[in-house]
Amino acid sequence: MTRHTIHRTSSQQLFERAQQSLVEGVNSPSRGAAVYSGGPIMLERGRGSRVWDADGNEYIDFMMSFGALLQGHAHPKLVSVVNEAMASGSHFAAATSAEVEAAERFRRMVPSAEVVRFANTGSEATMLALRLARAHTGRTKFLKFEGHYHGWYDPFLLNAHSHPVAELGTPEHPARIPDSEGIPPATFDDVVLAPWNDVAAIERVFQKHGPELAAVITEPIMANMGCIPPREGYLQRLRELASECGALLILDEVVTGFRYAPGGCQEYYGVKPDISTFGKALGAGFPVGAVAGPRAILDRLRWSDRMVLHYGTFNGHRLTMKVVAANLDLLSAPGTYPRLHAIGNAAIAGLRDVFRRHKMKAIVQGFGPMFQIYFTDRDAIHDYRDYCAYVDAGRYSRFVHSLLEEGIYMTPSNGLHWIISTAHTEADVEALAQAADRACAGLA
Ligand SMILES: Cc1ncc(COP(=O)(O)O)c(C=O)c1O
Repeated sequence: MTRHTIHRTSSQQLFERAQQSLVEGVNSPSRGAAVYSGGPIMLERGRGSRVWDADGNEYIDFMMSFGALLQGHAHPKLVSVVNEAMASGSHFAAATSAEVEAAERFRRMVPSAEVVRFANTGSEATMLALRLARAHTGRTKFLKFEGHYHGWYDPFLLNAHSHPVAELGTPEHPARIPDSEGIPPATFDDVVLAPWNDVAAIERVFQKHGPELAAVITEPIMANMGCIPPREGYLQRLRELASECGALLILDEVVTGFRYAPGGCQEYYGVKPDISTFGKALGAGFPVGAVAGPRAILDRLRWSDRMVLHYGTFNGHRLTMKVVAANLDLLSAPGTYPRLHAIGNAAIAGLRDVFRRHKMKAIVQGFGPMFQIYFTDRDAIHDYRDYCAYVDAGRYSRFVHSLLEEGIYMTPSNGLHWIISTAHTEADVEALAQAADRACAGLA
């Protein structure tokens, strides 16, 4: 099937209109003209693996709402759950059976979750996890890694964006580059910054700072510089070092949770965090965040004059909780994860084959339900510094813009990743390979 996009007149008109009332015409810079040259494609509806834009053009969606849509678009079961729940009241900001049912399923799937607390976004979850860790340990400093993104809470916004390699300092003394204006510099006094995926580097850091760390926070697979899996044994060593120093290991599974295995990367890699954070795929398109861990830590949220405060009108939102429970039931069906991995691996193999045939210096990194393409002459990208030094993000953007013309929907930002949902089929990944073949032919 030739899937050439014909025109985007309506998208362009809508985007122009949006300039009048929305900053940059969007609600996050990652969706606007900073990323999509010529302006974003305005999406109007989705079903299964497909989306349609305001001009009626159809695309196979491999961005899947930055990974939130693990069940694809408008899954019939979730649509009926939402319709039913909506008819009996969206949210009460009161205790409900819906949140009990969601939490029970969550605990069954995530082994480290003795208890869970629901919030509304991944950012809220990581913010709460850090507050809990600080309260639990009585320490304030924490370790974060270069290139890891944990949401937009002030202290996490250090070196989450890529920069020219000349600006990065040395791995021993990384330059500390805030990602946002408006954050008091003193906020970062409590942040220890280190390169990721390097055991010698963290051993050095723990030797120097270990006893003062409340926590070390890490993505298990680095997912905001594309898709960078941990080196073998790395997460386990991090676990040991944190335990030795009495620092809590916060595993930020906002991207990886429920994606690689029912219990996320902690199950996949066999590492037990003290606290873990979730979002995205948990809500299957509804805004949700979650913090999970042992009672000994999460019980600090209990009401008392020494509690860790976590409020929120929309915490445990009833519609969302209904969706979470139904989503986790769907994910628990036998065969779900093997199929996600098989379809993802087929997509990866197809793309690798295309690049090989076109003699492109490109690698496809990751496995199963999440991966990223890097235009590079390296065999692998292992960390932030590799990404900043060796990845041609401009070429990737041009490649994805060509794919958009071929009916493949994906963000042109190299820092994100390709997502396989339960709605994707063998035919979708075959169509992706054909589109990539045509895009490569046109790539200078
Ligand atoms: C690893 C990680 N943690 C936290 C967040 C923040 O989640 P949210 O965008 O739902 O606030 C993100 C968002 O992309 C993320 O990738």
